[in-house]
Amino acid sequence: PSETTNVPKPIMTTSSPLSQDELKKIAAYKAVEFVESGMVVGLGTGSTAKHAVDRIGELLQQGVLTNIVGIPTSLKTQEHACACNIPLSDIETHPVIDLAIDGADEVDPDMNLVKGRGGALLREKMIEIASKQFVVIVDESKVVEYIGRSGLAMPVEIVPFCWKFTLGKLELLFEEAGCVGKLRTYDENGEIFVTDNKNYTIDLYFKKSIGDLRIASDAILRIPGVVDHGLFIDMATTVIVAGEQGVTVKNK
Ligand code: 5RP
Repeated sequence: PSETTNVPKPIMTTSSPLSQDELKKIAAYKAVEFVESGMVVGLGTGSTAKHAVDRIGELLQQGVLTNIVGIPTSLKTQEHACACNIPLSDIETHPVIDLAIDGADEVDPDMNLVKGRGGALLREKMIEIASKQFVVIVDESKVVEYIGRSGLAMPVEIVPFCWKFTLGKLELLFEEAGCVGKLRTYDENGEIFVTDNKNYTIDLYFKKSIGDLRIASDAILRIPGVVDHGLFIDMATTVIVAGEQGVTVKNK
């Protein structure tokens, strides 16, 4: 059974509404309270996770945390964590991670997630599956009734070889959900987005629910050319949501 605790909003300096970035920061700082000295910590990717990396760096600098090893989930996070003087390693050296902290694009009531709009889903999944605790940090806009509800993309990382073939297979698989797939580009000029693993990303858009997430996950992974997808099912152990009314911590 899940347990929910409501924590009062830690920062209330004005009566004006907090920005989305301020909410992300509140969720991130709350998550870093779970980090203890000596831990191996998975460092997520994206604007929310960046606040957690900043905070861990700050607490190391102050000597409040010691002996932390960070495992970055992307080259971008690696660069940022290095700049914050966080000692880094990888899952070959540390196959078991104590705790990972990362953002998400959607969180459903069962704590299933969509991740990967920031382009790092494969390394995130490898590292977060290896984590004893996986703490997800979001502002309230990411909370949905069901996966796909936001209308935003569900990313799939694929090999570049004959990518239109793989895109066609994905659209066919979710034909009943009105699926449209788009190859991710950096901008309108159409330069193809390349992941840290030198792969491409297809963003899937659905008109209807994709139904059972495990069935969908297995079916996507059976398509030749697919490397992995942004559905993170039954992986989160804690979800921290920061909203105008305060912070909610939900445990599995
Ligand atoms: C990156 C991710 C991010 O965690 C997700 O896209 C959320 O990003 P942000 O914190 O910037 O809203 O999955 O691959």
